[in-house]
Amino acid sequence: MTPGRTPASDRPKSLAEIRATYAEQAESIHRFERVNRLLTGRYRRERFGDVTGRVLDVACGTGTNFRYLPDGIELVGIDISPEMLAKAEEQLAALGMDGTLRNVDAEALEFEDDGFDAVISALSTCTFPDPVAALREMARVCKPDGTVRLVEHGRSDVAPFARFQEWRADAHYERNCCRWTQEPSAVVAAAGLSVRDSSTGLFGTITTFEIDPE
Ligand SMILES: C[S@@+](CC[C@H](N)C(=O)[O-])C[C@H]1O[C@@H](n2cnc3c(N)ncnc32)[C@H](O)[C@@H]1O
Repeated sequence: MTPGRTPASDRPKSLAEIRATYAEQAESIHRFERVNRLLTGRYRRERFGDVTGRVLDVACGTGTNFRYLPDGIELVGIDISPEMLAKAEEQLAALGMDGTLRNVDAEALEFEDDGFDAVISALSTCTFPDPVAALREMARVCKPDGTVRLVEHGRSDVAPFARFQEWRADAHYERNCCRWTQEPSAVVAAAGLSVRDSSTGLFGTITTFEIDPE
């Protein structure tokens, strides 16, 4: 059991359940993206703003990361939700960006080894049925001298809010397929990956990582 999971969230959702959840939520996630950006935008900019070369955004969702990426990259975004990918396509057009979007499972990335200069992902390991497998896949498809970057959420370090998160964790998981008290550092450690740099913010709920793919 991954540290930070709750008993209910230790039962991984199937990909079909996750797809159904995001089919239902894609429209509202897209509509409330401004709020998401207000809360997480600075962390995305800090962690993803200097990537270069061929970049893979894993579980790109509606494309919230895209605006924080620099010019001149070759962007590939993947997700398992067609509805989220459709919003991501709109996002690319609205930003005037080029990119390739594909429906691919993060736990079985259909890419060759060492194919990307940077692999990024935001607010995703909480949703993957097997987040350790997904992180290992991200490291596999990243060049050895490349970089894996994450912006993840977890339990707050503010006690009353952490207690609220614990109280609502199972309901939140059932409704959103999101383990919101999962400890991202524990998942990275369980994947056996070395952290080059990490930082926390937003009352301890956000942790960002630069990870060594080797
Ligand atoms: C909370 S959203 C985050 C989206 C985006 N990265 C962001 O920061 O706003 C989680 C995303 O993970 C995707 N997802 C869940 N499991 C996946 C999997 N196994 N492979 C690929 N995408 C997956 C969902 O479809 C959803 O778009």
